[in-house]
Amino acid sequence: MNNASAKIEYQTIREESRGATAEVTRHSVAALKLFFGIPKTLQVVGKDNDTYKGQLEKFWERFLGITTEEGTLTIKLIEGRFFVNESLCKITRKTPALDEGIARWQELGIGGIEIRYAPESDILARFFEALTKTTSANTVGTLDTETAIEQLRKLLLDNDVYGLRVFSSDEVAKDSNPIEQRRLQMRRQARTVFFKSLRALNETTSNTFSGRETQLRETSNVVRSMVDQVIEDDSALIEMTAIKDFDDYTFAHSVNVCIYSLSIGVRLNFDRNRLSQLGFAALFHDIGKVKLPAEVVKKPGIFTESDWVHMRNHPTIGAKSLLTTFAIDSQMIRAALVAFEHHINLDNTGYPKRTKDRELNLFTRIITVADTFDALTSGRIYITDPIPPVEVLRKMMYRMRNKFDHLILKIFINNVGLFPAGSLTLLSNSQIAIVEKNNPKTPAAPVVRVIGDKFGLKDTVTIVDLSSPENSGITIKRFLDPKETNIDVKRYIYQDIPLAN
Ligand SMILES: [Fe+2]
Ligand SMILES: [Fe+2]
Repeated sequence: MNNASAKIEYQTIREESRGATAEVTRHSVAALKLFFGIPKTLQVVGKDNDTYKGQLEKFWERFLGITTEEGTLTIKLIEGRFFVNESLCKITRKTPALDEGIARWQELGIGGIEIRYAPESDILARFFEALTKTTSANTVGTLDTETAIEQLRKLLLDNDVYGLRVFSSDEVAKDSNPIEQRRLQMRRQARTVFFKSLRALNETTSNTFSGRETQLRETSNVVRSMVDQVIEDDSALIEMTAIKDFDDYTFAHSVNVCIYSLSIGVRLNFDRNRLSQLGFAALFHDIGKVKLPAEVVKKPGIFTESDWVHMRNHPTIGAKSLLTTFAIDSQMIRAALVAFEHHINLDNTGYPKRTKDRELNLFTRIITVADTFDALTSGRIYITDPIPPVEVLRKMMYRMRNKFDHLILKIFINNVGLFPAGSLTLLSNSQIAIVEKNNPKTPAAPVVRVIGDKFGLKDTVTIVDLSSPENSGITIKRFLDPKETNIDVKRYIYQDIPLAN
């Protein structure tokens, strides 16, 4: 396995999903706190004070951090919650300045602000001064909100504050579709957590490879973020698993198995702690492959007997490697058990060789379903061509029926649907669509994003719920292989194409 090239590939793809980085989130919260702290300081100490100037400078740095990535900084206040560049800003610890800021905006009727890249820093200073003047003018609530906003806008104009717009709360409310904002936010989060877990896994397994002690904090954090997201809605993460053309698929496979396993765990009502343990075990189920010869792991064709000798060793190597490299706790023991058992089928066929039959652990039964589904749909392991998901599910249900726990398999099928999120499909009305979300009650009729038709691809997408009565005439005709159609599915998964009006 070539870790250096894998790293570069992940970084490149990560850059494709701009705006989804953890750094941006960190900048957002810090920027928000500073943004609302500055007027408070200004009111108390005046504009020549060093503390005020220092805060202004710090905000400027954060502002640049965000706008060099995204072009603008928008802060919106919707129903008491802040959205920075349309993403909900989760603030774990509110500051008094933030509370006062919310109150001030509500008094003045401000719903949002947009600052474009990149006015000079003194424009921001003039904005804060104008805001403070308007606030003072309104201290006894003498201005109605319409007048207050107008007064602020006039002050901004008079003071040459350009590149900056103030929205009233009515304008923000009219303009905001919270459901759409949440959808986009979940998609951004899914990209962030997916690529973060690839990196964490890459780093942790690299250390394992050289036998060094490793801190697993980053991996555990990433699994916890995945758990949070899967509990709310797993479709954006499942959509990420649709990309199968990584040069080195080993890590992406493990992340995919983790996502599928967590989505089963949620349906089994596992609590957060159990879900984290399940996700952790899934992420490391194939860790033994790191010590196999790369040419065997990455071999695209049929295995020879000698390849199989190597391959059959990876569960034992994996279990040993987990138990000898990391500190042993209950999470690690479960992960080692899964690594050892994940190629043993429910009917006790499979490998490694055992002296007697064993009853498989529940985690193993979940991870085996996820593992087989991803291996067969990606076509990387043991076979040469990927099989469409619907056929894989059929094969797992019937031809391979003795190998899996049927209840778990049914839960999985119910959850991912016959056309999992991210599948490229042809609709009966000749439109081309990417599946956005499964409808568990109608697994053949998911929610899709229509991206084009027989005349070509469009610049915008339309979301169509195939299960709703008004779309009853439209069905999915078939799964399309992205390679055959020459459609860059990644573009539609790693980016947010605007909705058609
Ligand atoms: Fe494996
Ligand atoms: Fe695997």
